[in-house]
Amino acid sequence: MLPFSSSPPSFFKSFINSTSKLPPGPLALPVIGHLHLLGPLIHKTFHHLSSRYGPLIYLRIGSVPCVVASSPELAKEFLKTNELTFSARKHTFAIDHLTYHSSFAFAPYGPYWKFIKKLSAYELLGSRTLNQFLPIRTQELNHFIAILLQKSKSGESVNLTQELLKLTNNVISQMMMSLRCSGIADQADGVRTLVREDFLTAATDTTAIALEWALAELINHPEVLEKAQKEIDKVVGKNRLVEESDNPSLHYIHAVIKETFRLHPPIPMISRKSTQECKIGGYTIPEGALLFVNIWSIGRDPKVWEDPFKFRPERFLKSENGEASGTTIDVKGLHYQLLPFGSGRRACPGISLAMQELPTALAAMIQCFDWKVVVTDGEKHGPVDVVDMDERPGLTAPRAHDLECFPISRLGSVPSGFIEAHARACLGFRPQGQGCQDQDKK
Ligand code: HEM
Repeated sequence: MLPFSSSPPSFFKSFINSTSKLPPGPLALPVIGHLHLLGPLIHKTFHHLSSRYGPLIYLRIGSVPCVVASSPELAKEFLKTNELTFSARKHTFAIDHLTYHSSFAFAPYGPYWKFIKKLSAYELLGSRTLNQFLPIRTQELNHFIAILLQKSKSGESVNLTQELLKLTNNVISQMMMSLRCSGIADQADGVRTLVREDFLTAATDTTAIALEWALAELINHPEVLEKAQKEIDKVVGKNRLVEESDNPSLHYIHAVIKETFRLHPPIPMISRKSTQECKIGGYTIPEGALLFVNIWSIGRDPKVWEDPFKFRPERFLKSENGEASGTTIDVKGLHYQLLPFGSGRRACPGISLAMQELPTALAAMIQCFDWKVVVTDGEKHGPVDVVDMDERPGLTAPRAHDLECFPISRLGSVPSGFIEAHARACLGFRPQGQGCQDQDKK
């Protein structure tokens, strides 16, 4: 008997498809369906299956029907053309390990979800609130840089994975704590809990993961790092720390972030559920099917991206002869080849916050420091030049190993006084209490 993972004979495949009209896919085992095919990195498993069976495949995880879409055209078809059909998500035991936990993120598309969505879009994460909380983000970033400066002065290495998580966690916790005082959180019972549980998880990991991948890519591509540092030196100079108001001028940094999202989307697959049967590409998608749009796979598709495995931010900038093909591609969910924040009404409500935080935090890390990586393979083996780019299995797609580095100051003493003063102010500024991880405890 042929192993189940091997391709079934084509006459058999077409027989199955002509009767069921389901998208193609490998043969399923009784009861477990295709569960046995899933490796630890599910988006990679789906990527391999798609390269064998095509950009739209059908799988059964236990009793749950699933479809996986891996092309920009299909992403558009599912998320835009059939948006309402795929505006729900499903949280089942069988797929617990495929998705991230959050009650708002898994709320059915109905009045509760609409209420919270409106609240988050206009109040919690709207531009007015984001502007109001700029001082929090600035102080937290200064505090983070001050920690790195301290490490740099004492010649110690720093676990950036942990420090980045503390930074993003502190920003969102501080914002949420301030909301409590502003009265906004009183608008609904339970909003406080929701905001704490859902937004903390959704905001902290994703933003920290993106920053870590971006820095890891820069360390592995010194020529890109140098260009990015030159841009910062030109736009910001060496007498002050980069600020969010510099973002519109940091074109290359933005391109670095887009390129990072292309290769390392923190949430590698957009997951939804169909609320009614529909037809996509001539195939039937059953009601209740889980949809996975594999954005990780789309980012690596040579039919979509030239030299997809090269980290080349320039693809998002005007070329030397003035061609601007990639410059119009943004991350807001309308360019289906690059959907790090998803698309449509269920897209990420934290996009504005993330796109305020990310360029400034990344720019600050490379404005102030060069980075020397330490291998942490159980024991430290000392500095190396290349960062490993393995992924850890999980709901999101972080790097497999913590990023441990020596920060090497590249600015002498110029902005350090400024940063330290701000860090001191920051410590005084923070309300005492839970939620805020104090980076100073040593
Ligand atoms: C780099 C940072 C981030 C990335 C890459 C990211 C990515 C995503 C993606 C792909 C989705 C699913 C979208 C879809 O189904 O179309 C999502 C949903 C969500 N994100 Fe983010 N996110 C980030 C930051 C944030 C932040 C800062 C917050 C909150 C402050 C946040 C809150 C949420 C919530 C609540 C949902 C669920 C929305 C819903 O189901 O309607 N995210 N995010």
